[in-house]
Amino acid sequence: MTREKQMKKDEALSLLYNRYKCAFPGKEYVFGCGCTSPKLLLTGEAPGREEVKFSRPFSGAAGKLLDSFLQMAGINREDIYITNAIKYRLSKENPKTGRLSNRPAARDEIISSRPYLLEEIGIISPCCIVTLGNVPLRAVTGDLRLNIGECHGVPDRVTIKEQDYLLFPLYHPASVIYNRSLVQVYENDILKLRDLFRGARAI
Ligand code: URA
Repeated sequence: MTREKQMKKDEALSLLYNRYKCAFPGKEYVFGCGCTSPKLLLTGEAPGREEVKFSRPFSGAAGKLLDSFLQMAGINREDIYITNAIKYRLSKENPKTGRLSNRPAARDEIISSRPYLLEEIGIISPCCIVTLGNVPLRAVTGDLRLNIGECHGVPDRVTIKEQDYLLFPLYHPASVIYNRSLVQVYENDILKLRDLFRGARAI
C-alpha cells in the first residue's frame, strides 16, 4: 500500500472514532488497533477495565488467552487488526461497594454501534472477519438471533456495503475461562482458522 493510501486510511479511522465519541459521549473508549491493511480483522464485544487502562483491545485475561490461540493459528497480533463491536466499556456499579464491573451488551447497544463497526470494516477492508462470541457475530451480520454455539468454526460469507468478506465465527476466548469443556472445541476451530488464514495469504 502506498504511503498516501495509508495516510487516507488513518485519517478515515480517526474521523470515524471522533464521530463515535460524539455519538456516545462521556464513555471510556477503546478503539481498534493493529495493522490497518491486514488479511484478517478480529472483533470482540466491548473493552473491559484492563483494555481501558491500556487503551488497547484484549489487554486483560481474555487477551492473554486470545494471544495463545493466535499463536496456535500462526497469526501475529501485529499482522491483524483487532477491534470491538462496541467501543466503550460496558459497566455496572455494585450498589453496596460502589465498584464497577463489566456487564453484557444490550440489544440496542449492539444496534447503535453497528454502523460504526461496518464502516470501520470498510476502511480496513480485510479478506476475513473473525468474530469472537455472539455480540460481534450479531453486529457484523445484523442478525440478532444468531447463536455462536451453532455457527462457531464454520466459515461463511458476509456482504457489507456491497463488499464480500469471509466470516469466521469463534467463541469468545473468555467463554473458555468459564467453560473448560470448550478448550478442545476452541482449539479445533483455531486450527481451521489457521488453514483458512494460510489460504487467505495466497489471495
Ligand atoms: N473482551 C472483548 O470482547 N473485548 C476486549 O477488548 C476485551 C475483552
